[in-house]
Amino acid sequence: MKKAFFTVICIMVFSFICSIAIAGSGDLRGAHKDRGIACEDCHGTKTPEKKAPASVCKTCHADHRGEIKTYKNNGHEVKVNPHDSHQGELRCTLCHSIHEPSKLYCNQDGCHAFENNMNVK
Ligand code: HEC
Ligand code: HEC
Ligand code: HEC
Repeated sequence: MKKAFFTVICIMVFSFICSIAIAGSGDLRGAHKDRGIACEDCHGTKTPEKKAPASVCKTCHADHRGEIKTYKNNGHEVKVNPHDSHQGELRCTLCHSIHEPSKLYCNQDGCHAFENNMNVK
């Protein structure tokens, strides 16, 4: 009886961890899949084996200018538009990954410390 109870608890804990992993995976393919975007829309083939070109984003998101947002940065609030960088036009995939969690390029090498989860659902 004790053993069965322990097994149930283990399964519950395991499923809970899995659900967090899935919800927080930041996998943008999920966001696209919900809107009916298929592998071939990005990869040009139904059976992709290698990376899709970063330029493909622009076929659907041609004029994504973003907007100024308020982020926390080392305890201060700053207003920035991540889509209007002082580094000029950046590749979308520098910040947005499709198959793995997205990472804010601005925070790389300690340049900035914007608190942002990239809004990936
Ligand atoms: C919204 C665009 C998009 C969609 C939809 C998409 N991919 Fe990708 N895929 C990419 C990009 C961009 C890369 C390059 C790596 C990255 O940024 O995540 C990539 C990388 C890959 C790779 C190479 C992985 C590597 O590290 O070499 C494979 C294989 C792949 N995708 C398969 C698929 C399959 C299968 C589907 C459909 C179930 C799919 N992709 C849907 C954009 C997309
Ligand atoms: C075939 C069309 C298509 C392509 C190609 C495409 N997207 Fe999208 N994407 C969409 C649609 C439709 C949505 C949902 C509506 C929206 O937010 O604009 C979306 C949503 C998004 C979102 C918002 C996700 C969210 O949860 O709010 C991001 C970020 C994004 N795309 C990035 C990319 C990147 C990066 C690429 C290139 C690797 C790409 N997209 C390629 C059609 C596309
Ligand atoms: C320097 C990093 C960076 C780059 C490069 C970048 N994005 Fe984003 N993107 C972000 C961040 C951060 C968010 C979340 C914004 C927020 O706080 O709501 C975002 C959100 C989005 C969204 C959701 C709507 C919105 O504006 O909040 C879309 C769609 C999107 N990006 C598309 C793109 C496309 C297309 C490109 C390439 C042309 C691109 N992004 C390049 C950082 C970036």
